[in-house]
Formats: sequence, C-alpha cells, structure tokens
Amino acid sequence: MRIPLLAANWKMNMTRREARVMVEDLLARVGDLRDREAAICPPFHLLSEVGSLLAARPSIRLGGQDLYWKDSGAFTGEVSAPMLRDVGCHFVIVGHSERRALFGETDSSCAQKVTAAQNHGLVPILCVGETLEEREAGRTQERVVSQFRGALQGLALDSGERLVVAYEPIWAIGTGKTDSPEEANRTMSLLRATLAELFGERIAAQVRLLYGGSVKPENIDAFMACREIDGALVGGASLKAESFARIIQFQ
Ligand code: PGA
Repeated sequence: MRIPLLAANWKMNMTRREARVMVEDLLARVGDLRDREAAICPPFHLLSEVGSLLAARPSIRLGGQDLYWKDSGAFTGEVSAPMLRDVGCHFVIVGHSERRALFGETDSSCAQKVTAAQNHGLVPILCVGETLEEREAGRTQERVVSQFRGALQGLALDSGERLVVAYEPIWAIGTGKTDSPEEANRTMSLLRATLAELFGERIAAQVRLLYGGSVKPENIDAFMACREIDGALVGGASLKAESFARIIQFQ
C-alpha cells in the first residue's frame, strides 16, 4: 500500500554541469518507475535546472533540503515553502542531523518547518536519529521518539501521504557503517506506533518511513526487505548515477 520512495540528498555538492550530466545519466539508466518513486533534493541553486530535467519523469520528484517557516520577508539567506513550490518541489527535508548539529536546528524549529511545508502543499521528509553516545547508552528509542514528538507537535494530519519520516542514526551518516536492517526495522516500528498514538492507525499505516545512513547498492535490498522500511534517504551514494540507479532498482 505504501509506495517505496528512494530519495537523494545531494547536500552541498554539484555544479550545474555536474548535475546535468548526473541526471541525464540517471534517466537513461532507470526507465519509467511504476511501483516505486524516487526524489532528488539538490542544493537550492540547482532546483530549477534539475526540475526541468525531471519534468518528463513524474515518478522522480524534486525536493528542497531545508526551508524557513515564514513565507517571505527580511530573512537573509533563507528560502520559503512558497518559493520551493514555485520552483516545482514536491518534498522538503526537515531537521536533517547536519542542520541540527551544525546550524542550531531544534525540535521546535522543525515543528514550525513541518507545519509551513504542509500548509503550502509540500511533503516534509522529517529526519530523526540518535548519536553514537545515545546509542551506546541504550537511549536510541527514547531519543528518536522525543525528536519525533517535538517535531510533530500541534500538527493536524488528515492523510499519512502528506508526511515522510527518515530514521537516520547519526553515527551511520557518511561513515560507511550502517544499522543492521533488523535493528533499524525495530526502531522504525516504534516510530510507526508513535504515529498511531498521535494520528491514529489509518494515518500511521500510510506514512512512509525511510532508513538513512550509508545506504549503498550493496545493502539496499536487505533494508527494503524489512516490513517497516518503505524507502531510503541516500547521501553519498546518490551523487553517482550508477549507484543511485541501482538503489532505485532495489529488488
Ligand atoms: P549518507 O547520508 O548516505 O552519505 O550516509 C545520508 C543522509 O545524510 O541523508
């Protein structure tokens, strides 16, 4: 019932030329997607370019990597939900761990961003995840549930299709280490149970839960075989057409 979603987070990478070469190569490798969806979240300066290249492939969507919750005004350096919509975005990443760790993002700023995204018809990809110390102290579940509750505070959700959640253990991002699929699945089933408490069973069953953290062609099939894992948020391995195409074509 939930359509798998394979989302690329390019982070602060790629020139216009590199992006064009990568996307053209990707489109040549993956045909029309029927039973799955993909997304590319490039840095802001590439949204228009990548959006034009993806226009003929509605199953590969465009996404932003962040947004500010006001619509417009004196907020130097920020980009708003209406602006992301204007350039053709469907998704927007909210609360990525790099934004939390390096740019002061908090659960309450995430909550404002999730609401702003939804008010303007964007689907937020809300990221949660624990640090290595939290993991080793046995606090993974408590940590991700509290981030989750903080960021979804006050949200009225009438359809689970309007929200995507990415569980990304911070120690697995960009490190080559991954959570085991079984362990990730266990944490994600807890997130689904929390969604059911907050929004009811029907909506919880519709929300797509992505795993993120060193997803690669070699491990995607094992993650996608897990019951609660509906897709992946992919950093490093999404920068090359060959590896991201293989991830999209998981078996
Ligand atoms: P990674 O990044 O795939 O390079 O570990 C994932 C992410 O940060 O979303």
